[in-house]
Amino acid sequence: MNFEQHVDVHQERYTAELLEFVRMPSISALPRHADDVRQTAAWVAARLQQAHFENVQVMETGGHPVVYGDWLHAGDQPTVLIYGHFDVQPVDPVDLWIKPPFEPWIDEGKILGRGASDSKGNMLASIAALDSTLCVEGRLPVNVKFCFEGQEEIGSPQISDFLAREKERFRCDLAISSDGGQWAENRPSLTMALRGICGIQINLRGPSRDLHSGSYGGAVHNPIHALVDLLASMHHPDGSIAIAGFYEDVTSPTAEERQNTARIPFDENKYRDELGIAAVHGEEGYSTRERTWHRPTLEVNGIWGGFQQEGIKTVLPSMAHAKITCRLVPRQDPDSIRHLLQRHVERHVPAGVEASVDFLTMNGKPYVIPKEHWGNMAARDVLVDLYGQDPYYVRTGGSIPICGAFLEHLGAYTVNFGFGLPDEKSHSPNEFFRLASFRRSQTAYHRLLHKLSC
Ligand code: BES
Ligand code: MN
Repeated sequence: MNFEQHVDVHQERYTAELLEFVRMPSISALPRHADDVRQTAAWVAARLQQAHFENVQVMETGGHPVVYGDWLHAGDQPTVLIYGHFDVQPVDPVDLWIKPPFEPWIDEGKILGRGASDSKGNMLASIAALDSTLCVEGRLPVNVKFCFEGQEEIGSPQISDFLAREKERFRCDLAISSDGGQWAENRPSLTMALRGICGIQINLRGPSRDLHSGSYGGAVHNPIHALVDLLASMHHPDGSIAIAGFYEDVTSPTAEERQNTARIPFDENKYRDELGIAAVHGEEGYSTRERTWHRPTLEVNGIWGGFQQEGIKTVLPSMAHAKITCRLVPRQDPDSIRHLLQRHVERHVPAGVEASVDFLTMNGKPYVIPKEHWGNMAARDVLVDLYGQDPYYVRTGGSIPICGAFLEHLGAYTVNFGFGLPDEKSHSPNEFFRLASFRRSQTAYHRLLHKLSC
């Protein structure tokens, strides 16, 4: 049997495994699911063991664990670190799901369920591909290590320190990330950049208790009003960010980068229609694509305080809160930026309220890989063979914090080699993954390892 036949014969089993994997509610953000994340790690470790990988272990990070395994019998061949994440996003709003998010089902060639596309389908495909390769060929063309983490969806808070401690174990020539996507069913893409991320929570305190808004309204500063002013002070009217020092390390996209981005098809009318917005919005002087691919942002992700239930309560609240995250571009440092945010809050807090700032645990450096990197060239060849089309060289506004950490601690670039598609509703209700992508990515991984062997 050759590889393709083997994978075909076992596709039903691999799909059943994917259903089992998606069934596990490994929501990293919710403390009550911490045990589920751990059980999912154990499931992944067992799956690697079943495929006869060696040194398989669930490793402690101080938070959600990492699963390691390896196959290091390819002598002088390069060592490739295959990365994926087995944690998933929360499921709310849960009533918008057609069926419960952790009771995955198959419909018209799609598997639906939380984490199907982001990123369990992608991750399991990489394991299945190497499992079949080992079965058919008895060996792998390169040395392989696995790094599967359970904390990507909360910004990998412990991963940078963990990799700094475990440099030797994870040492490799190249990382390959199964988390990521392609442009369309018939068009591949290679991702050249991801943005970094950091964030804070602002807590404003006014009076020591909620007050009658008739008795006190007009005489006491309302912390929600103060918060709104404070948040408004964070952008200039031209859409740029008004935090002192925020752009200090930012380099503008080069003319060549802007040309590359402008070459990628983009239909702004379609974009607006799809999103149900009358107009796009953002920093003056940049296209929509440039705003999400090349420029940093500051976004309020949530704001709360006061009375939120049905009906009326005439209250002047004691507290108001907001969560803010920034997407960062090359040379911006997440730790420095969150200190700048903190200083901005301290300097601009309106009189009559007190502010405290908590750092959100996410901490991701921006990441860029050269287009001509040997890993990208190999990936490109595989994609051209598989799709019969040249890949678009894209960037993304999203973040995968570990890519920057691999570069910093292991000196290894990460090739983004995932097979999700943009319409698969990742982070949203009714997330799904195409079984055709699941199957195709197995071939892709098999071929990529062969391409990477010298
Ligand atoms: N798979 C995504 C990253 C991604 C997004 C890649 C869009 C390609 C296109 C990843 O799972 C993710 O959602 N990352 C989070 C990280 C955050 C929680 C620190 C993100 O970007 O919001
Ligand atoms: Mn995600």
